[in-house]
Amino acid sequence: MRINKYLADAGICSRRKADELIKDGKVKVNGEVMTTPGYDVQDHDEVVYEGQAVRPLMNKVYYLLNKPVGCVTSVTDDRDRMTVIDLFADNDERLFPVGRLDYNTAGVLFVTNDGDFSYHLTHPKHQIEKLYQVRIAGMISKEDVSKLRHGVDIGGFVTSRARVDVVSWTKHSTILEVTIHEGKNRQVRRMFEAVGKHVEELTRLSVGGIGLGHLKPGQYRKLNPNEVAMLMKM
Ligand code: URA
Repeated sequence: MRINKYLADAGICSRRKADELIKDGKVKVNGEVMTTPGYDVQDHDEVVYEGQAVRPLMNKVYYLLNKPVGCVTSVTDDRDRMTVIDLFADNDERLFPVGRLDYNTAGVLFVTNDGDFSYHLTHPKHQIEKLYQVRIAGMISKEDVSKLRHGVDIGGFVTSRARVDVVSWTKHSTILEVTIHEGKNRQVRRMFEAVGKHVEELTRLSVGGIGLGHLKPGQYRKLNPNEVAMLMKM
């Protein structure tokens, strides 16, 4: 097996990232730094990354988590806050989250040990559809909704066309659904900031058409093989 696939199958990173690690001299085979991305790993080889021997995982796992607010989308946190991986306390797989949701954002987050799955879903060229429910204070004008639909400047970047629907409103707050295909940092919050609105609550309802279903915040389920295959084809 090529060494970049070997590292990806071990849950270290994507194949593309593995090529970089190898070129940067971060991977050793049988005690020697290995800088050839095309190296074919043999059964008896010992592959070491960051001082740890790595082996391809036999079992790749894919979860759909309803991320609660108040936890970080990372594996560890230097400020000791709860991470999304802490919610999988009984699992001994080497899990990591796919992409990112803010500390105060809830909803659909995939968690896996498959670096290629993560790379595929987060690569901008695949334009995976993400649906958010947004609550803002007060009401929003038709003009502002139109601006959000056509694209707004979120600071050096103009967003692409988005689907934006007002779901319900009162004098005090408005609920909208927003579908985007990009994934800039804090994109939805920054889009609303661009029209002078502060997002008070943000929930990701679905990614690639896979929604929360009956999962409560903090609960997760395994993705079924058809769902994984469908996401990898997008
Ligand atoms: N957009 C945001 O602003 N925050 C998220 O967590 C996800 C999308």
